[in-house]
Amino acid sequence: MRCAAAILSASLLLVSACSKEAPPTNPEVAPEPAAIAKPALDPVTGLKMAGDWEIVRANCVACHSSRLIIQQRGTAQQWLTMIRWMQKKQNLWDFDPDTESKIIAYLAKNYPPSDAQRRAAIPPELMPSNPYSMEK
Ligand code: HEC
Repeated sequence: MRCAAAILSASLLLVSACSKEAPPTNPEVAPEPAAIAKPALDPVTGLKMAGDWEIVRANCVACHSSRLIIQQRGTAQQWLTMIRWMQKKQNLWDFDPDTESKIIAYLAKNYPPSDAQRRAAIPPELMPSNPYSMEK
């Protein structure tokens, strides 16, 4: 009887030794989305509160809803193209180079292109002419 108990405790030891092994990891499985730290959203504008977001809030929500920005995606170049278009056509003011590069960096980092998002902005030269335009 004592022997059986010894075998039992020995096998328990074995089992507990085995279970200390790290679980197998599968490098193909991406981490859960929740495991990736996401910046909090500004309750007023919905902008991601990261980096220079306050500069963007100060310059980008005066004319239209921040929704227009949040739903958009783009590379730094695409964001710059949108800004140039607004400056040319929509009375957006000029930025000093430092402010501009901070705005672009924030947008390209927090709202980058993604397969699952909406299409890229149409380049101005490919846009159809506006039949209601007052410009000649
Ligand atoms: C002076 C006014 C003004 C300011 C300030 C302004 N915008 Fe705009 N923006 C516009 C107008 C007007 C439109 C066109 C709105 C529409 O189509 O209904 C527009 C459209 C957009 C669009 C949609 C483009 C598309 O292809 O659908 C985005 C994105 C955008 N703005 C981002 C920004 C960002 C980022 C900033 C800050 C750098 C900014 N806006 C600041 C006037 C402005």
